[in-house]
Parts: sequence; C-alpha cells; structure tokens
Amino acid sequence: MKNYPFDVRQMELGVILETHNVQAGYGESQILRGVDITVPRGKVTTVMGRNGVGKTTLLRTVMGLVRTKDPIIFKREEIQNRSTCRRARRGVGYVPQGREIIPRLTVYENILIGTEARNDSVRTFDEDEIYGLFPVLRDFRNRLGGNLSGGQQQQLAIARALVGKPDLLILDEPTEGIQPSITIEIADVLNRLVAQGLTILLVEQKLDFARRLSDFYYIMDRGKMIKHDSKNNIDFDELKTYLSV
Ligand SMILES: Nc1ncnc2c1ncn2[C@@H]1O[C@H](COP(=O)(O)OP(=O)(O)OP(=O)(O)O)[C@@H](O)[C@H]1O
Ligand SMILES: [Mg+2]
Repeated sequence: MKNYPFDVRQMELGVILETHNVQAGYGESQILRGVDITVPRGKVTTVMGRNGVGKTTLLRTVMGLVRTKDPIIFKREEIQNRSTCRRARRGVGYVPQGREIIPRLTVYENILIGTEARNDSVRTFDEDEIYGLFPVLRDFRNRLGGNLSGGQQQQLAIARALVGKPDLLILDEPTEGIQPSITIEIADVLNRLVAQGLTILLVEQKLDFARRLSDFYYIMDRGKMIKHDSKNNIDFDELKTYLSV
C-alpha cells in the first residue's frame, strides 16, 4: 500500500491520479527518472520547476503521448497501456503548453473538437454554459481561432477541454505569454470549476498565479519530484529557488 503524501486519508479526500516510479523519455534520452505524484480529488495540485526538468513530459506521459511501462492509476484503473483517446474518454482533459488550437477553424469549431473526448456519443456542447465561463468566446464564436489573442486562445483551449466533460483537467503553463489581467480571469474561472467538483493538475512557473489556485505543490527537478507539500506548509522562499523566473 502506498504511503500517501498530504494525509489524503485524514482529509477524507480521494485520490484521482497517481503515478508510481514513472520513467519515460524520447528514444535514448531518459527524461522522467522515477516520478511519484498523487493528485487528490477535487483539489488543485501544481507541479513547479525550471525549464527543461520534464514537466511537460510528465503531462504527456499521463496523456499517453509519451509511453511508459510504469503504473499510472486514474480513477482506480491502470491506464499506462491505454490509448490517449481512451484516457480522454475516461475523464482526463488536457490543455497543452502552447494551447494548440487550430488557427483555421472558428472558435465554435475548435470547441466542438473537444466533444470527441466525451464518454458518450453526444457531439454538441452547452453553449450557454461554456460562454458563461468565457464570455469573449461567445462574441468571437465565428472568428478564426488564429485571429484571437494569446489569452483568448488560452480560454478557447480550456473551453475545448471542458466540453469533453473531464473529471481531471490538466493544464500546462496556461499563463505563458498572456496578459496578467487575463490570467486573473482564468484563475477565477478555474476556481469556480473546482468549487463545482473538478480536479486540476497544473504545471506552472508563475508563483502568483499558482498561489491563486493551488492546494498542493510538487517541486520537480531533473526528471524527479524532489519535494511536495500542502499550501499551508510549503516554504515559498525555498520553492522560488527552483523556478527559472
Ligand atoms: N520531442 C522531444 N524529443 C526529444 N527531447 C525532447 C522532446 N521534448 C522535450 N525534450 C527534452 O526533454 C527535456 C524535458 O522537456 P520538457 O518539455 O518536459 O520540460 P519542461 O519542464 O516542460 O520545460 P519548460 O518549462 O520549458 O516547458 C528537455 O531536455 C527537452 O529538450
Ligand atoms: Mg513544458
């Protein structure tokens, strides 16, 4: 039986995702050197660390875009041998670093793509619900995704992930290259979603944004988690020494 960090049992939180000594990389180059992470249900868990330590590689491994033989357990089932599509349909939503929206499709069409991750055959979404979260997307519904600002594209990428109805939303540096005013709006929306029961796994380098959201922190360095703590116990001065900025 795994010894959980953060007293998840004591707090009566379930665990939605955990990895056990996960190793992965690209060809001959090993990037993840035995990653253990526990993501409590209904909370925000944030992975921080310098450029190139393997944060994105970890998220891509959870999504099945980088392969591993080691256990990745999502909703009590080992998923490391499942396809990316199966993982998405089981309830993992992914907002990749750099957003990866499709520039030549409209905002509406970009969001619609996210419905492919639904666990049923419904391929529509509740426009009032999504545009209620991100009103700018209603205004720009028929614009091409490529004509949106960075912040608007980030909101679009989050909307696209949400229409797949995830239980766990994974976000990779959502503040990268976007204006501070929009990052605050995004944090507010994410906090509302967490209050409604969503779980978030966030990779972030900006501490002020991370602090608006996070319940638990992991510090990653050279392909490993070197420290983890809850928001009440973490030493933020020490954490800062592990950030690039
Ligand atoms: N497709 C790839 N093929 C080969 N090496 C890669 C590939 N993607 C990333 N790497 C290497 O893997 C290492 C970890 O990269 P990764 O993108 O996971 O880091 P990161 O922590 O997300 O960095 P950043 O903060 O800059 O986003 C780096 O040395 C990177 O050069
Ligand atoms: Mg990255």
